[in-house]
Amino acid sequence: MGPFQRIETKTAEQIQLMRRAGAVVGQTLEELRQRAAAGVSLVELNALAEESIRRHGATPSFLGYGHPPYPAVICTSVNDVVVHGIPGDQVLAAGDVLSIDCGAIVDGWHGDAAITVIIGEPDQEEHQALSAACRAALDAGIAAMVVGNRLSDVSHAIERSITTAGSYGIVREYTGHGIGTRMHMDPRVPNYGKPGKGPALLPGVVLAIEPMITLGGEQTLTLDDDWSVATVDGSRAAHWEHTVAVTAQGPQVLTLP
Ligand code: MF3
Ligand code: CO
Repeated sequence: MGPFQRIETKTAEQIQLMRRAGAVVGQTLEELRQRAAAGVSLVELNALAEESIRRHGATPSFLGYGHPPYPAVICTSVNDVVVHGIPGDQVLAAGDVLSIDCGAIVDGWHGDAAITVIIGEPDQEEHQALSAACRAALDAGIAAMVVGNRLSDVSHAIERSITTAGSYGIVREYTGHGIGTRMHMDPRVPNYGKPGKGPALLPGVVLAIEPMITLGGEQTLTLDDDWSVATVDGSRAAHWEHTVAVTAQGPQVLTLP
């Protein structure tokens, strides 16, 4: 990607519309976070998500997405599944590392966000640290979304945050992305990279920032369901995501409840 590529920018009014979709996603994830516990199945969480999204007058964006069409409303990625886990009959157990990814559309505008939840007693220190490191990397990426920075400054900030936090695998095969009237738009936003490269971050640039890290290696594979992405070494993974706008007043997270 050359330094002269531009990223589509949104007007303040369009960002306001994206905030409505983002709020539905944020609210739904908050409901799911409160509900996720040992004994709860992934299909139950999916049903709760669909009910929440539609109750808010929004449309699920993941359902039917891609090839083969994604069959659910949320992604539920447990333990060694990094992203795109399809919610099935699996029942959550204490100690599970669960990431929940959710997307919704309001009036044609998309929101996309993900959280990681550790199920059960908070004695899973290594897992809590994994999730915290991933969340801190998301925050570092958001903080780098300021006018004057270039795209790879966001990637670099994420990578630096992760490597500072500890010895984690940084997943390279999946990235953040532009978002707006489609869920996945240009540019890709890798979770690593040298600073100072790529297009300038202008007011109105909106990106979905989504670091994915593991307790082991960075290699992943796609499972037989054609969607679930798991670590090759079986190590557990975390995933956090927000949809974020660059504004003259600084970064604005659009996927808050
Ligand atoms: N946040 C995920 C991504 O950007 C959303 C995947 S949705 C799915 O890849 F429908 F593709 F599963
Ligand atoms: Co995304």
